[in-house]
Amino acid sequence: MKIAVLGYGTVGSGVVEVINKNQKEVCKKAGVGIEVKYILDLRDFPGDPMEQCVVHDFDVILNDPEVKIICETMGGVNPAYEYSKKALLAGKSVCTSNKELVANHGPELIALAKANDCNYLFEASVGGGIPIIRPLNASLTPERIDGITGILNGTTNYMLTKMDEEGMEYADVLAEAQAKGYAEKNPAADVEGYDACRKIAILSSLVYGKTVHYEDIYTEGITKISKQDFLYAKAMKKSIKLLGMSKDIDGSCFAMVAPFMIRAEHPLYCVKDVFNGVCVHGNMLGTTMYYGRGAGKLPTASAVVSDVIDCAKHQGKFIFCFWEDENVKLASKDEMCWKFFVRVKGNEADSNLMAAFGETEIIRVPECADEFAFVTDEISEAEFVKRIAEVKGVVSTIRMYE
Ligand code: HSE
Repeated sequence: MKIAVLGYGTVGSGVVEVINKNQKEVCKKAGVGIEVKYILDLRDFPGDPMEQCVVHDFDVILNDPEVKIICETMGGVNPAYEYSKKALLAGKSVCTSNKELVANHGPELIALAKANDCNYLFEASVGGGIPIIRPLNASLTPERIDGITGILNGTTNYMLTKMDEEGMEYADVLAEAQAKGYAEKNPAADVEGYDACRKIAILSSLVYGKTVHYEDIYTEGITKISKQDFLYAKAMKKSIKLLGMSKDIDGSCFAMVAPFMIRAEHPLYCVKDVFNGVCVHGNMLGTTMYYGRGAGKLPTASAVVSDVIDCAKHQGKFIFCFWEDENVKLASKDEMCWKFFVRVKGNEADSNLMAAFGETEIIRVPECADEFAFVTDEISEAEFVKRIAEVKGVVSTIRMYE
């Protein structure tokens, strides 16, 4: 079976490498020989072993009836959207790592695949090499999934781990992540939580079978997290993680991306460095956890190739994927309840803490002599906003994940 790869960048070249290096495994499991016939890229790759496969015109691929599966590893919405639509309309399956495109046009592309007896698969779009889409679509089908919580971004998890374990400042750890190639020159997609937001939008949409728009998800990044926050976290035997979560609240979905303090006993506490981890809670099964490399050339490429194998095994047949182009009603953040960790400049007496929150346990760390911190009881977001406005000298607040 001939396939084409759109985009010969990190993931695209990884797809070719996985197929070529694991030729025996891939072909055995697909039940058919798999061969890369074309690579679409704007560039030429003189001296590359795949040089002869490089084309610059998508129509060459589209009009070749031998090509049955297309790996879209270009990233960005355009022209990936147009190419994917054309491929699916022609009955060619598309396997993608492009979370941007899946989050924006997932249901439309899935419907196109269904109508044309082919597939639009996107295992690599969330959690890189970690199997998470296939478990949701296949293994967990008898479950009513009522909660997903995940560390969905490797770059920020690397940064937070460094801050936790080496006491680094945010700016220094960002510079290091950029130097290592984990964070982009413009790091906003990772550090502002946008990347994790698209991923939790995709996972939530698959759970509900309808669209959770990423624009509607409350998203906070890690840019305000400081070295001092970690000193307090450590004193409380906790760490700080950027979590993407989605919960079923009486039939409506609540979704959010934000940094949370999590206790050392929680399984996500042990997800460190560039690794991702996703906990899925089903009403019959309880919690299952998926862990592994959420980014990187070969892990992400391996997930794309797993989709290629699935497509090869299901030629002419749509594989179950339920995600309709209808909006999920999102529950308001105001009613969500958790404990909040708060740092305050100055002393308790001047802060008005007693009047705002009553008796609370005070936390102090020796390195932060001119401030104190406290943890609220479990209260709603709306109540917290009201009460915290009465406290003078608030430095930072972080939600606590229980
Ligand atoms: N920038 C992303 C991350 C890449 O750090 O997880 C994978 O989506």
